[in-house]
Amino acid sequence: MHVPFVDLQAQHAPLSAAIEDTWRGLLARGDFVMGAAVERFEADYAAFIGARHAIGVGTGLAALELVLRGLDIGPGDEVITPANTFVATVFAIMAVGAKPVLVDMDAATYGIDAGAIDAAVTSRTRAIMPVHLYGQPADLDGVAAVARRHSLLLIEDAAQAHGARYRSRRAGSFGDAAAFSFYPSKNLGALGDGGIITTSDDRLAERLRLLRNYGQRAKYHHAIAGTNSRLDTLQAAVLSIKLPHLDRWNAARRAHADAYTARLQGHVQTPIAAAGVEHIYHLYVIQTPARDALEQRLKARQIHTGIHYPVPAHLQEACASLGYQAGDFPVTEAAASRILSLPMFAELTETQIDYVADAVLASM
Ligand SMILES: Cc1ncc(COP(=O)(O)O)c(C=O)c1O
Repeated sequence: MHVPFVDLQAQHAPLSAAIEDTWRGLLARGDFVMGAAVERFEADYAAFIGARHAIGVGTGLAALELVLRGLDIGPGDEVITPANTFVATVFAIMAVGAKPVLVDMDAATYGIDAGAIDAAVTSRTRAIMPVHLYGQPADLDGVAAVARRHSLLLIEDAAQAHGARYRSRRAGSFGDAAAFSFYPSKNLGALGDGGIITTSDDRLAERLRLLRNYGQRAKYHHAIAGTNSRLDTLQAAVLSIKLPHLDRWNAARRAHADAYTARLQGHVQTPIAAAGVEHIYHLYVIQTPARDALEQRLKARQIHTGIHYPVPAHLQEACASLGYQAGDFPVTEAAASRILSLPMFAELTETQIDYVADAVLASM
């Protein structure tokens, strides 16, 4: 048996006729940039998340960067974010000229350690940017309390958490703004790059709509020096077809995670969903001291896995200028050599899950 890490063909097979129909219509109308398909998806996504606005953009990285620009965060400012994240979170802060100030992760949930944030706050801190890593909302009560105490903005990196809930509200509805990625393998993915920002701040939403589209209020009338980072019309149409399936796909992922955990608990460290949180298992991440050997044994049985992420952000060559060194974030660093992401997608079968679990146990 062969078990891929994600199986996009399996997700797309039942949707391809609808996608082709919609794309044929857009092709016939010559509708390629912005337009009704983008507006419709933005309205549907805002309603889904429970935010007043959704602003489609080119990528998840652009979503983060534009939020920071929209909130006037730049040179001289500091933004607090976890060391355990995909490097885009840190790059977005660097891209606007602000300084990323990193904080270690919570050992149980992989999210930012809210108890460690206070010590990282300085007079330059403008915002906290928690990441809902692997599909589990960060400790938003803890983070929001620190943000309130120091009058800081709260920006959610929700790139891995489409539809996840924290105390029954969706991730992406808590902060001043949130950024999502529609990279194809995300729980809600496009057929190429895409991203979106959610916010309930009317003025910020208006500014973001300008920033993503050359600052244009009307064609060739530029109010501010914006950029070109729009959600592609063909991708918006695909995302509208997929969005109604998202809760069902996420529920399937949760069931698969429970099945893995039932088999693997006690043999490897299995993921923990915090109380009051609905984890959507973008990634199912286990820990074991013999990670590299396990990865190789699974590969030999045609089981594809991933490591998210092998080198923490603060130890990346690209982040050398931040001045961090090995030992600065011990929880994140210890996890980096032990974590392994098992195959996870809504269409996984019971047989595949059993095959993977058997292979993990046989490799211990
Ligand atoms: C946590 C996190 N932040 C930001 C991004 C950036 O998204 P994109 O790849 O769409 O630019 C990603 C995705 O890859 C991510 O996982």
